[in-house]
Amino acid sequence: MYSLWTRLHAIFAFTLSSLTAMTFLFFLSTAFHQYTTDVKLGTGKVVVKSVPDYTVSRDELDLGVITFDIDANLTDLFNWNVKELFVYLAAEYQTKDNQINQVVLWDKIIQRGQSGIVSAKNVHSKYYFWDDGRGLRQTPVKLSLNWNVIPNAGLLPNFAGQGEHTFIFPAEYAKGARA
Ligand SMILES: *[C@@H]1O[C@H](CO)[C@@H](O)[C@H](O)[C@H]1NC(C)=O
Repeated sequence: MYSLWTRLHAIFAFTLSSLTAMTFLFFLSTAFHQYTTDVKLGTGKVVVKSVPDYTVSRDELDLGVITFDIDANLTDLFNWNVKELFVYLAAEYQTKDNQINQVVLWDKIIQRGQSGIVSAKNVHSKYYFWDDGRGLRQTPVKLSLNWNVIPNAGLLPNFAGQGEHTFIFPAEYAKGARA
């Protein structure tokens, strides 16, 4: 019995370490892969409103309201080690109060086997584009499409698509209280 157990244990340990080593090698095979590709971004409507943010206080804050276009083919980003992509559209801008402001406007999960085409035309943002003050008027905003690669093994790298789009909010507030 004792020798059987020892033997089983040895086989198990060997299998486990082989699997670990193989997973590590597979991981290495994609660890330094640059998961990036070209992206076309654009904007349609671009307005800024002054709206009370009741969740924080009754002060009026700047709310950006935009429509945007995305055109990207992420098919080639998928390989054996990509389980899914968490794709998000980020807006980045600078205000008097903050060097860097980042707002996620839209996101989408693409699983392996699904279409890698990301195509949006004249789409409203999924999440509100709040500034934490009154910093949006006449402010240049850089849009970029980014993705987290959710792997089968290894790290969770974050990549940005090649191709950004910059727009500027107008100097005047748009009328109409709601977005
Ligand atoms: C997307 O890319 C894949 C792989 O390069 C290609 O086979 C496919 O035709 C592309 N689709 C479009 C709509 O460009």
